[in-house]
Amino acid sequence: MDKTIEKIVSLCKRRGFIFQSSEIYGGFGAVYDYGPLGTELKNNISQLWWREMTRVHENIVGLDSGILMHPRVWEASGHVSEFHDPLVDCKQCKARYRADELVANIEDADWNQVKCSKCGTTGKMTSPRQFNLMFETHVGPVEESSSVAYLRPETAQGIYVNYQLVQGAMRMKIPFGIAQIGKAFRNEIVARNFIFRTREFEQMEMQYFVKPDSDNDAMKEWKEKRFRFYPDSLGIVENKVRFHEHGPDELAHYAKEAWDIEYEFPFGWAEIEGVHNRNDFDLVRHEEFSGKNLKYFDQQTNERFLPYIIETSAGLNRMLLAVLADAYWEDKENNRTVMKFHPQLAPMKAVVCPLVKKDGLPEKARNIVDFLKPHFSVLYDQQGSIGKRYYRQDEAGTPFGITVDHQTIEDDTVTLRYRDTQHQDRVSTDKLLTAIQDNMA
Ligand code: GAP
Repeated sequence: MDKTIEKIVSLCKRRGFIFQSSEIYGGFGAVYDYGPLGTELKNNISQLWWREMTRVHENIVGLDSGILMHPRVWEASGHVSEFHDPLVDCKQCKARYRADELVANIEDADWNQVKCSKCGTTGKMTSPRQFNLMFETHVGPVEESSSVAYLRPETAQGIYVNYQLVQGAMRMKIPFGIAQIGKAFRNEIVARNFIFRTREFEQMEMQYFVKPDSDNDAMKEWKEKRFRFYPDSLGIVENKVRFHEHGPDELAHYAKEAWDIEYEFPFGWAEIEGVHNRNDFDLVRHEEFSGKNLKYFDQQTNERFLPYIIETSAGLNRMLLAVLADAYWEDKENNRTVMKFHPQLAPMKAVVCPLVKKDGLPEKARNIVDFLKPHFSVLYDQQGSIGKRYYRQDEAGTPFGITVDHQTIEDDTVTLRYRDTQHQDRVSTDKLLTAIQDNMA
């Protein structure tokens, strides 16, 4: 694993952001649990996305569909027949690889020449086999083929099968969008880079339904909007994000055109989000497989048609990893590690510390916590030296530190410390809330 990622993994565990799943049992591959700060951070990111989609855009509404769906959905979507990765095993050491990650061209590759990067043996690779990434389960007590169900590999299909119900109930007129945040599952062959590629993850997807002839314009609009989200809403350094267009060999079975938004992670450029023109692929297939008429009726033109769909599909966990990587800063001069989260994203906004545990300072500090906590997440800390307390919160990414000292008792002022600069202001307690809010944007 990349060195910086290793340091981030260790900080995430130490400060309660992210833990390996089932650690006391030796861990469970490619699944992670989110601790108190990780949960806050993840919620803050998903709320920003939700607000951007459903509040900023009057023509986008939300949905929360089930993880389990009728198995025919996945036949219609093409996932049963198409959602495969080519897989090879090293016969010597049993290491498993995605074939396309070992060789540029799977069909033309001579597998007798391929070297195992784990044990170093050449010529012991199996031929590639197709491996379906969907997790299969059974509904009800009997394990037979008629009871098969899948854990959804994308949230999108829940939107497609509900699109007419949503449109009718909310009287949506084209163009309109449906947004959803939820878990997705993929039995990834090679899971690596911490939370980048996991078997259980969350997607934030928005499906935008447009007239068939306006898909190119909508694609342009959403590419631009989604790209701007990274610097403008998440505060990610602008030159750390870029577009990558899918060539014909990379296009998913449903896509007419696809662009990835990539972030420059410590291990290299990699996808966080996809913007796809899915045209009418999904709705045509659902009409065919369900036998239901899924056409939209346009009252203005009296036309019936299957809308085209522009999809924006982001991985919440990958977005979180980008936010973590972007925020990670080793302040060598001051011998500290700082998570420079945008204050809006920071899991805790402020820590309140009494300088000492006596002289009425803890009571005063608690009053300040009570006063601030209706406005944002705030923490009380009286454990250890003040310097240690601050450095602990620098690692947690808490942007504001408030210290209650003896002068507070005399004149009702506190020190307000800023995480990144370590600059401190003396602020009267009645101006504290405004001082923090002014620095939150
Ligand atoms: N509905 C379209 C769709 O699912 P995708 O490119 O396969 O498209 C969209 O996935 C996003 O979901 C990716 O950009 C990525 O952020 C996230 N994602 C996909 N597989 C993932 C995995 N195994 N672990 C974490 N995130 C994943």
